Amino acid sequence: MDKFLIRGGAPLAGEVQTSGAKNSALPVLAASLLSSEPVTLRRIPQVRDIGTMQKLLRYNGATVDVDDSGTVRVHAATIANPEAPYEIVKTMRASSLVLGPLVARTGRARVSMPGGCAIGARPINLHVNALESLGARIHQEHGYVEARADNGLKGGKIKFDRITVTGTEDLLMAAVLAEGETVIDNAAREPEVVDVANLLTQMGAKIEGAGTSTITVQGVSSLKGADHTIIPDRIEAGTFLIAGAITGGDVRINGCNPEHLMATIDLMRQAGSLIETGEDWMHVRKNGQLRSVDMTTVEYPGFATDLQAQFLALMTQAEGISLIEETIFENRFMHVPELGRMGAKIRIEGRRAIVAGASKLSGAPVTCSDLRASASLILAALVAEGESLVDRVYHVDRGYENLEQKLAGLGASITRVA
Ligand code: EPU
Repeated sequence: MDKFLIRGGAPLAGEVQTSGAKNSALPVLAASLLSSEPVTLRRIPQVRDIGTMQKLLRYNGATVDVDDSGTVRVHAATIANPEAPYEIVKTMRASSLVLGPLVARTGRARVSMPGGCAIGARPINLHVNALESLGARIHQEHGYVEARADNGLKGGKIKFDRITVTGTEDLLMAAVLAEGETVIDNAAREPEVVDVANLLTQMGAKIEGAGTSTITVQGVSSLKGADHTIIPDRIEAGTFLIAGAITGGDVRINGCNPEHLMATIDLMRQAGSLIETGEDWMHVRKNGQLRSVDMTTVEYPGFATDLQAQFLALMTQAEGISLIEETIFENRFMHVPELGRMGAKIRIEGRRAIVAGASKLSGAPVTCSDLRASASLILAALVAEGESLVDRVYHVDRGYENLEQKLAGLGASITRVA
């Protein structure tokens, strides 16, 4: 298993380019199953979860061509196997994203229940209830969800009991080919949902309200091909913003969309970071000692749960007490004991972590437990004194494109050890 050897202490400096958003790439790849014509998707990050999704589309019967620049061309002329087998999707949380498209396109789908994941249970009840509202008959057995809609899906009114990002995307992808009107209430407003809606609209779907809590869809009988460039990865960009701040560096992040990160930027400014933004760039610089601020994760446009672990690492370097509250996932503090081993002072009380800073961190061997927790440990290692050996970086490889090359380009001492 690969590890990162990181020697901390150097302030990062220079410019870094943002990759395409993993969490847009996954649903837009799934959406390409909805048309029999070719769909070209640009700026797709080549990370492990995307490799898994591409493998799944090939299994379904699509041809998938990938070039070095991140352009992926999917052609699902026919769907031979409307199935997502366990062997392919066991490492990916997002397998349920093909449920909606497969049942909408072929009238049936058989999808392995997503594997357990370290950050919390992986329920798909909201996806299932929503698809049933469109007339799909669904049962679960042998670890699979089986959906049928022999006479096609019918539009309906759905109000999600709680906001779900992939649940909203899954239902949206089903509704575009359902007969009549679908209204989705309490929809997720994340930029990735809007990106999927933009692709679907280009394919000929009729969608209003994406990016708000109510999305209305008028079903169409078929969708055409499209050529779509996905949005920049706001979580990757936010991670580099924090990397600049935590090392007291001077980092410019290019090719991003600062509007997608307003909650993070506001809070980091309150903590004392100097951040300038333009249309597609952000620049972070040291501005004296960081101060502690409190943070609660909320759905978009609030502070993203996917940046909680990285922000918590930042707060170990801020003066004072910071309360970090996680409201989206029940078990997303696994980086905390590892940060403790590097000298951070953090106590967990239920859904809250109480961080006392600033702590002088010292390099240590640490182990990654999930994607964003890994980023948090890497950030801490960048500021720690001496060497850290960060184990199980396959979690990082699931979602960050060329992370070590990008950090090294900013002057970090980081090498991959096989
Ligand atoms: N939930 C249910 N039932 C469902 C679906 C979700 O109870 O049927 C619960 C979840 O357990 C969770 C909450 O609802 O407590 C919100 O989960 P959501 O469905 O919004 O999460 P997701 O769609 O599975 C996406 C991202 C995650 C990100 C969350 C929250 C993708 C592929 N994944 O997951 O990204 O943390 O939204 O913003 O878009 C990551 O990139 O590291 C990552 C985990």
